[in-house]
Amino acid sequence: MPRLAYVNGRLVPHADAVVHIEDRGFQFADGVYEVVTVLGGGFVDESGHLARLAYSLGELRIAAPMSDRALKLVMRALVRRNGVRDGLLYIQVTRGVAPRDFKFPKTARSTLVMTTRRARLPSASDDGGVAVVSVPDIRWDRRDIKSVGLLAQILAKQSAAEAGAFEAWMIDRDGFVTEGASSNAWIVTREGVLVTRQADHSVLHGITGNSIEHLAHELGIQVERRAFSLDEALSAREAFLSSATTFCTPVVRIDDRVIGNGYPGQTTRALRGLYFEYARQRQERAFSWPK
Ligand code: PDD
Repeated sequence: MPRLAYVNGRLVPHADAVVHIEDRGFQFADGVYEVVTVLGGGFVDESGHLARLAYSLGELRIAAPMSDRALKLVMRALVRRNGVRDGLLYIQVTRGVAPRDFKFPKTARSTLVMTTRRARLPSASDDGGVAVVSVPDIRWDRRDIKSVGLLAQILAKQSAAEAGAFEAWMIDRDGFVTEGASSNAWIVTREGVLVTRQADHSVLHGITGNSIEHLAHELGIQVERRAFSLDEALSAREAFLSSATTFCTPVVRIDDRVIGNGYPGQTTRALRGLYFEYARQRQERAFSWPK
């Protein structure tokens, strides 16, 4: 059976799934998205992702395409029909199709697209870490909205790939790390304090990071939400990144500098282990978002 995609009310073969050329997502990147982990056929932090989707839509005054209840039904139908056990579900909502005009259209109906992908998710037994490179953060000022306007992230990821790194950490004008191109950035200080950027407009408030923060509290780890500089990151004891696709992935090199002893640190490993357990028990233990 072919892989299916959901487009505006219909399940269609993925290869034939299209939206109109005057869709505002295509013309203006006038839309938002979510990426949800599928684990064992179920969703990790589903309510958090739907809450953030509603938040992004609300901030841009894009009409929700359907109720959360209906969205959940479509999500389940697509995952089931595509036989996905482990992988990712993408949800994209745009302001809809209308003649090209910058102002909001009066009559357009939101476009809703959902796709799934089987993927090898990080596993508890992965014991390596990844390298990241630093790049200037050239994005707009509302990074808390999960916009489909991802050009800056594309350039950042391409720089990382060309440098043989896994991710790019973006640096604001004052020398502080904002976040990864598609993940949140974390360090563990020499005093053992877990630090990640405050959840304001300067970064996307990660659903995975939100859960990791809860788990850190349960472990008795002190968490500080504040900006940290690239210099502070370079001399940190540990570093890691988090997202729905990478969970809690150790960072062992930033630019040319080895972090800690070059191996995943103790705090990172503990949080990664706990996050796997949490993800497996997804429905029972879901933390709310925002924190
Ligand atoms: N990206 N910051 C940015 C800029 C991101 O794009 C993402 C997620 C995150 C982490 O958010 P979460 O924990 O909710 O996945 C932080 C997704 C995975 C993507 O674009 O593929």
